[in-house]
Amino acid sequence: MTEKELCQKAIHMMDAAYCPYSRFPVGAALECSDGSVFTGCNIENAAYGAGICAERTAMSKAISEGHRDFVRIAVAGKSDDYCVPCGICRQFIMEFAPDMEIICLNGQGESKKFSLRELLPCGFDGSYL
Ligand code: THU
Repeated sequence: MTEKELCQKAIHMMDAAYCPYSRFPVGAALECSDGSVFTGCNIENAAYGAGICAERTAMSKAISEGHRDFVRIAVAGKSDDYCVPCGICRQFIMEFAPDMEIICLNGQGESKKFSLRELLPCGFDGSYL
C-alpha cells in the first residue's frame, strides 16, 4: 500500500470515531511487515478513563489477529497541528515496534513523519525488567 493510501485510510477512519465527549475524532491505519493493514478509531466512554485511542484500537486489532510486526502507522486528526500519538500510545508502540514510523496528519490532510524514538526518547521496555 502506498503512503497516500495508508493516510487516506486513517482519514476515513475518523468517520467511525465514537467521541461524543471530546468531539475530536481520530483515525489510524497500521501497516504490518506482510503488508496487512489494520485500522482504528478513538472510542470514548462516559467514564472518561475507559476510552481508547485510535492507535491502540488499530494495534489491538492487529495483535489479536496474530500480527505484531508493525512497520508504520498513519494517524489523522482534525487539528491545526499534526496529530501525534499520546504518551500511552507511544509506550504501547514501544512494546512491539520501537523503530516504527509514525505519519501524523493535520486537518488539512498534510503529513509529517516521525520515528517512535524521536517521540519517545529513552523509552522503557522489557530489557529493564
Ligand atoms: N486521541 C487519539 O485517539 N489518539 C491520539 O493520538 C490523541 C488523542 C483521542 C483520545 C480522545 O478520544 C480524543 O482523542 C481527545 O483526546
